[in-house]
Amino acid sequence: MTHEVNRGYFDYVVNLKNKIGLYKNGTRLLLLPRLLLFPIILLYAVALWAALSATRRLSYQRRLNDDVLSRAEAMTAFVEQYPFHYYPILAKGYELMLLRDLMKQHQVDPSNLVEFAVGEASLSHRVFEGVQSAVIGCDLNPYSLLQCKKYAHFKALVVADVTDPPLVPGTVDCLLSMNFMHHVSQKREVLSRWSLVAERAIFNENTNFWASASCWSSLLRMLGLKQAAAQAAKAQELASHQSLLAEDEIDTMVSENYSILERFKFIDRSTMLLSNISSWFMIGVYGPPTPEVIKKISKPFRELAKAVTKELYLWDQSRDRKHDVFLLYFGKSIHFRRQEDEPHFVQPGKSGSFSLEQARQKNLPCKDGMVFLLADEHQSIFGAYDAKTRAEVAHQHL
Ligand SMILES: C[S@@+](CC[C@H](N)C(=O)[O-])C[C@H]1O[C@@H](n2cnc3c(N)ncnc32)[C@H](O)[C@@H]1O
Repeated sequence: MTHEVNRGYFDYVVNLKNKIGLYKNGTRLLLLPRLLLFPIILLYAVALWAALSATRRLSYQRRLNDDVLSRAEAMTAFVEQYPFHYYPILAKGYELMLLRDLMKQHQVDPSNLVEFAVGEASLSHRVFEGVQSAVIGCDLNPYSLLQCKKYAHFKALVVADVTDPPLVPGTVDCLLSMNFMHHVSQKREVLSRWSLVAERAIFNENTNFWASASCWSSLLRMLGLKQAAAQAAKAQELASHQSLLAEDEIDTMVSENYSILERFKFIDRSTMLLSNISSWFMIGVYGPPTPEVIKKISKPFRELAKAVTKELYLWDQSRDRKHDVFLLYFGKSIHFRRQEDEPHFVQPGKSGSFSLEQARQKNLPCKDGMVFLLADEHQSIFGAYDAKTRAEVAHQHL
């Protein structure tokens, strides 16, 4: 049976209470090396900006249209959140731009939309700017989900396993799930369940170029050591709790469940590598969040981080799209059969279903305004969630 990488999240959430001290000590230990490396982060930023802008002027400036040039500015929306950590800045910048366009163009109504694996909603609240009390947010990690409470676009927050969502088939108009599917091994099964629940779905996925863009894998590939490069990529994939496939395999799996209405590709492997050099070697992290110390000392250099981000985006726009790391889909389910006009939930392992309104009258497990709809084997997440850990968990900005 395939090892399910997503189980790592369950262990993490349940053990957070016991490991929080360990994580804090790790952060303290890394403080000095991070401070010492900061001048190198700045030097790399200046060198990268100079090299990319010179290359652009000399070789591909003429191929960039006005639309691309005007969008470069929008790519910097996440610079404050992930300073000098260009990969999440670019990934979320692209996602925000595409999601805003998609929602508008396809008239996606947020009032029957459920967002799966919403995290702390740092992306979500920008997507739903101006929306009031409409979206239902779900995540496995109650400490992350709690951060969503400050955003007005949510009408309910549910702690749940979205690989098997506690929703009645045929009751949701649209589901949105960003930066999640790459953390799932059994994608086919999950997509099939999702396609029963919601009529339309918007989600993204990473291709296997995500892992081969790591610094070690890229170096080994450049040295002609193909096998060692593949092994380094696999190690990176596992260390990041990801399960990655080639683009055509992902397309096939998505097409088994959805008619693909829109599909986007972005962030070439070379763009990812140029970003990773700053993230991995110097900041010491691969994915978000950015360490707090980097955030604090980066403030005066925000314009530099923005300038580099814009050049990376323009560089990315000049690529041939054969080695893209990110795929984003908007699909119409081929299995969906409408049952109700609003989301209906189930309590895993129990009979009966209920709307949000009915849920308020039921005696459901609830803490800090979040409803916990978990299967019996995951009830420890409810049990382990407490005020002391809540106070200690850093505000991470996923
Ligand atoms: C990389 S973060 C993405 C957060 C957010 N969607 C974004 O793009 O900013 C992945 C999120 O998936 C959540 N997650 C992982 N496994 C899950 C599961 N089985 N059910 C629900 N949420 C899960 C994690 O807690 C985390 O918040």
